[in-house]
Amino acid sequence: MPAQLQLNASLRQFNAFGVEANAGWLAAVEDEADLREAMGDPRVQALPRLVLGGGTNVLFVSDFPGLVLHIRVPGHRQVGETADSWLFEVGAGVDWHQTVCLLLQDGFGGLENLALIPGTVGAAPIQNIGAYGLEIAERLHCVQAWDCAQQAIVQMTTEECEFGYRDSIFKRKYKGDRIIMSVTLALPKRWQPLLGYAELERDLKARSVATPSPRDIFDAVCAIRRRKLPDPTSVGNAGSFFKNPIVSRHRRTELIERFPSLVSYELAGGRYKLAAGWLIEACGMKGVRRGRAAVYDHQALVLVNRGGASGREILELAREVQARVADKFGVFLEPEAVIVE
Ligand code: EPU
Repeated sequence: MPAQLQLNASLRQFNAFGVEANAGWLAAVEDEADLREAMGDPRVQALPRLVLGGGTNVLFVSDFPGLVLHIRVPGHRQVGETADSWLFEVGAGVDWHQTVCLLLQDGFGGLENLALIPGTVGAAPIQNIGAYGLEIAERLHCVQAWDCAQQAIVQMTTEECEFGYRDSIFKRKYKGDRIIMSVTLALPKRWQPLLGYAELERDLKARSVATPSPRDIFDAVCAIRRRKLPDPTSVGNAGSFFKNPIVSRHRRTELIERFPSLVSYELAGGRYKLAAGWLIEACGMKGVRRGRAAVYDHQALVLVNRGGASGREILELAREVQARVADKFGVFLEPEAVIVE
């Protein structure tokens, strides 16, 4: 009799918003055998499935009646090299920031711009985590994923993951059907600092660092994040709640005429990414509190649980933010966080 399935389990400690929600069934998955056992259990076979890593990018608005697979695959090891990169395979359940730190300590730079991003290694490719001019897609060799239809582990190249801005094939075609078990990272043999982000450059300058090392960039990124983003261990949050919206050149010109201080970045192909935090702040929503949910006072793109908020309260605030931004700017803010309702 499979012992690992837990009936009606609380997910409170498994979601960074810290809201109350229950899973119909919960299974901890440390390896392929655990996964086979959990998914083969007749009690859950017909139920919907949800894959959970660190729960740092999910908002539970209601209980999840199906099977929650809590991915806890451990381990990290060097698995070889290519002409340009050192390759490391890391278990999907390992903490992302801990991985950045361990590799840096061992002398491997390349992930420092992605320091302090909460969550697990297995969740990182799903939304193609990114910060300070780097996305994980640029440091990925391949992923090993369990394919539910084939009942086997398949290896997927970076191209096959179809990465986009906070997007991958795991959010679309393979949603719920391919479960990432480990990730093979490619760290550059010839490391170069990535300094394109103005705030990062400013911080390094303030520290009088002229030729930064991976450690200098790591320190600067950690300092910036600590200034602007709430620590999920003390304030419930899921990082940026919305994506930065992408608009045409024409649309951006129209907006700039009406709102000259609008913050935007040009993308390849002539489209523009708008700073959603700016849009939300310009609607007067920064720091706004609705019950126990709030828009964070140092970064308007982040919604926070001020203590005891329900998922519903946070979702209602998110909808109010969307409505205000749509009203004022005619722009739709798509949630970055995964909403489970
Ligand atoms: N801004 C405001 N008011 C605010 C927040 C931002 O005016 O309340 C303006 C500022 O002008 C600022 C600009 O927006 O210069 C951009 O803000 P920031 O540098 O904080 O970056 P972001 O676009 O809000 C994105 C990512 C973050 C990532 C940072 C740094 C998304 C959805 N978010 O935020 O990622 O850390 O850039 O690269 O793309 C996450 O995904 O959870 C996350 C935190």
